Amino acid sequence: MNKKVYQFEFEEYDSSIALNKEDSELFMAAGQATGNAYAPYSKFNVGAAARLINGEIITGANQENASFPAGLCAEGVVLAAASSRFPNVAIDAIAVTYLSGTGASDQPVSPCGICRQSMQEHRLRMGRPIRLIMGGATGKIIAVGDASNLMPFAFKF
Ligand code: THU
Repeated sequence: MNKKVYQFEFEEYDSSIALNKEDSELFMAAGQATGNAYAPYSKFNVGAAARLINGEIITGANQENASFPAGLCAEGVVLAAASSRFPNVAIDAIAVTYLSGTGASDQPVSPCGICRQSMQEHRLRMGRPIRLIMGGATGKIIAVGDASNLMPFAFKF
């Protein structure tokens, strides 16, 4: 038996002001996309923005449903939108943020397991890592160079 360790690096920024121009632009697009959320049940409006390697910026927001499991996460929406509009263009980076109607928005948001699995498959298919930038309306921002790091042992067959 071998014991193995999994570790990865991530970046922490004191606020969105500290982001570089590209990340900042994408993060702002994600912030604007929170306005497109349909989240009457959770009142947790999530916005995501993907920058493709062709320079296009695609946005998405969570879309809930009275049948709760039918709801879609912002990250899933943006992945599907990007792949639908540009089927063979890799995503370079995704920014995700939120506005809560019931609480603060001062902690980074981080994608759910299903969205991590979806990002991982896009990465595998395109052979290119997706940079992921996560933040709230205020407060610290976290970024990882490869979103796959958040999904070790992802399912595949
Ligand atoms: N949600 C997202 O859009 N992205 C995530 O990574 C986690 C959760 C949405 C789903 C639901 O509409 C609301 O946030 C509360 O869970």
